[in-house]
Amino acid sequence: MPEHQIAGATALVTGASRGFGRGIATALSQQGAQVVGVARDRGPLDELRTELGGSFTAVGADAADPDVAGKLIDAYRPAILVLNAGATPLPRPIQHHTWQTFSRNWEVDVQHAFHWTREALLAPLEPGSIVITLSSGAALRGSPLSGGYAGAKAAIRWLTAYAAEESGREGLGIRFVSLLPQLTPATALGGMYVAAYTARQGTPAGGPGPAVTPEGVGQAVTELITGPGPDQDAYLLTGAGLRPL
Ligand SMILES: NC(=O)c1ccc[n+]([C@@H]2O[C@H](COP(=O)([O-])OP(=O)(O)OC[C@H]3O[C@@H](n4cnc5c(N)ncnc54)[C@H](OP(=O)(O)O)[C@@H]3O)[C@@H](O)[C@H]2O)c1
Repeated sequence: MPEHQIAGATALVTGASRGFGRGIATALSQQGAQVVGVARDRGPLDELRTELGGSFTAVGADAADPDVAGKLIDAYRPAILVLNAGATPLPRPIQHHTWQTFSRNWEVDVQHAFHWTREALLAPLEPGSIVITLSSGAALRGSPLSGGYAGAKAAIRWLTAYAAEESGREGLGIRFVSLLPQLTPATALGGMYVAAYTARQGTPAGGPGPAVTPEGVGQAVTELITGPGPDQDAYLLTGAGLRPL
């Protein structure tokens, strides 16, 4: 038996309108989940609703707003919660960042992961639920052109591990996992950084082998949900697939 069932489950995906989030929402919908997708701009969400049909509900909202996290968790009680929304940092060396640009991913990515994780533990979500957060391969190696991004993504990995520990201590049965995708040119955010690092170093940026794609992230998320074992709480994702950390 799979650890978690996707068919018939309610899944909530933040940042569902583009890039990885769109790939995740599509994969979960194709596997039979009722998917609630959150992003600030309604236009691309409504297009996805046209594509996926009645299995997709579009919610236009700021995922970093604590009221939004509490209200949507109460309204939908998702068995699958994917915290994917993230800001695009300015691609500049450190001395060209201001504190505001440096801390952008703390204000959006980390703040959103914090509010939703807290609400998931306090609700609490049903035993057997799963919360997946999007960290980054940058959390392992740094990302010198994106200010506080790598540190923010490392904080999300730790926050997720802390939540997994609290879930275990309180016997909540909620699984918390973080996913660390490698940089890829396949999304707006990743494409900007592959171009910036390629220009800086004078050689093509990005690792060898196939690139991570939104479809690959969708498949990885479905594998994390249906796969066995709550014993790993973080996975690196390359074009070759998932690797436990
Ligand atoms: N692409 C990569 O190479 C890569 C590698 C490792 C990790 N990641 C992480 O993976 C996640 C997705 O990245 P991506 O490349 O798919 O980014 P993307 O193409 O820029 O998409 C970001 C998504 O997040 C939404 N979003 C941003 N701020 C939001 C907010 N405050 N509230 C609600 N939604 C918000 C955007 O919609 P709106 O703007 O309409 O709100 C959009 O749907 C991010 O957390 C990113 O840091 C990406």
